[in-house]
Amino acid sequence: MQWNAKSWRTKPIKQHPTYKNTALLESVEAQLKSYPPLVFAGEARALQERLAKVCRGEAFLLQGGDCAESFSQFNAINIRDLFKVIMQMGAILTFGGLCPIVKVGRIAGQFAKPRSSDTESYNGVSLPSYRGDMINDMAFTQEAREHDPSRLLQAYNQSAATLNLLRAFAQGGFADLHQVHKWNLSFVKNNAFGQKYEELASRITQALDFMKACGIDSKHTPTLRETEFYTSHEALVLNYEEPLCREDSLTGEWYDCSAHMLWIGERTRGLDEAHIEFLRGVKNPIGVKIGPTATKADIMGLCDILNPHNQSGRLNLIVRMGADKIKAHFPKLLESINREGREILWSCDPMHGNTIKAHNGYKTRVFDNVLDEVKSFFEIHKAYGSYAGGVHLEMTGMNVTECVGGSQDITEEGLACNYNTQCDPRLNATQAMEMAFLIADMIKNR
Ligand code: PEP
Ligand code: CO
Repeated sequence: MQWNAKSWRTKPIKQHPTYKNTALLESVEAQLKSYPPLVFAGEARALQERLAKVCRGEAFLLQGGDCAESFSQFNAINIRDLFKVIMQMGAILTFGGLCPIVKVGRIAGQFAKPRSSDTESYNGVSLPSYRGDMINDMAFTQEAREHDPSRLLQAYNQSAATLNLLRAFAQGGFADLHQVHKWNLSFVKNNAFGQKYEELASRITQALDFMKACGIDSKHTPTLRETEFYTSHEALVLNYEEPLCREDSLTGEWYDCSAHMLWIGERTRGLDEAHIEFLRGVKNPIGVKIGPTATKADIMGLCDILNPHNQSGRLNLIVRMGADKIKAHFPKLLESINREGREILWSCDPMHGNTIKAHNGYKTRVFDNVLDEVKSFFEIHKAYGSYAGGVHLEMTGMNVTECVGGSQDITEEGLACNYNTQCDPRLNATQAMEMAFLIADMIKNR
């Protein structure tokens, strides 16, 4: 069947909002269609080139951000602090892993959530589940949980403002390597990893001073002064993605201009379903989550449909099996896939297979389990001769207490302190840096 931006509409679809007010939905879609694109095709192509380097083992992908962005916590501080932590992690990974880091935020569009249950019950009342601010509101009332098309416009506007600030940070001097000390957040500075980062930053500064003496400085060398920062989100709500799909005037090809990179979740990757149909036709780099039940046939099908020309950097498979299951299932699967010679960027999401409920009811993740899954991912790739290409993390620049463990030794009791997530538990800034130091060593040895 011929692809077009609407061809997904003939396919079965899962996890999608059900809008009652179809007239309003159509008017929202028409508005989105008339709005400017958020990213340009050329940027998505540049990202694919960077990701092709990752496939060759010449770079590493760092993708991270909130599980779900929120309308109520939208402010410059939160955006800046996530940007800072990703810059810090980039510095740690580049320095320790000795390769370029491709930085991709889960940001500027990450507003929609697949849910394991359609309803949520509380005190004997059952309501539709919260599905992310792009769809409905978290408050536990019937009205708040209605699926509201006008939220798609708010998501677009927030994404545009977020992206504007990210572009300013990336290109306006804040990302200059000479600022490496200033990226350290005040609440991190005094703990062990904040200190370790200060030492690393001092070594980078020394190296920059040396280079300056040799005549290389940020005035003349844009790579020292600016960074490339790309955006991504789960392409879940196709009523949002379709109108932001644009034909590139240079190549005549279609791009989903809501973000540089889009991914498909574990629950919506059915080969004959709507989400795969939509994304197969856009030329952006595409991610697909791979859970513990994925088979070789599933993966070969994904490669055939999403990457028929076997292009490097087009397809990112994001393995999210869990610390135990990755050991049991991934070796055999990887071995059989590696034999097929497909261009796959393999990355590891060590978050979604390691979610547990603490005794006091908080949804959490144990730092050591997250780390363990990443370690296994690197070891298994090494054993079968492929590259562990990247990590995909749920993290924030805020000082939250959502994941237990790490050097701060957050306990289950301690989760109550600052548990602030809109959906899943995130690594806080300290835990994210700690993870980066550990992953840097793994990159060096891969
Ligand atoms: C997510 O990345 O937030 C998510 C829901 O992941 P998955 O589809 O892997 O469960
Ligand atoms: Co999540």
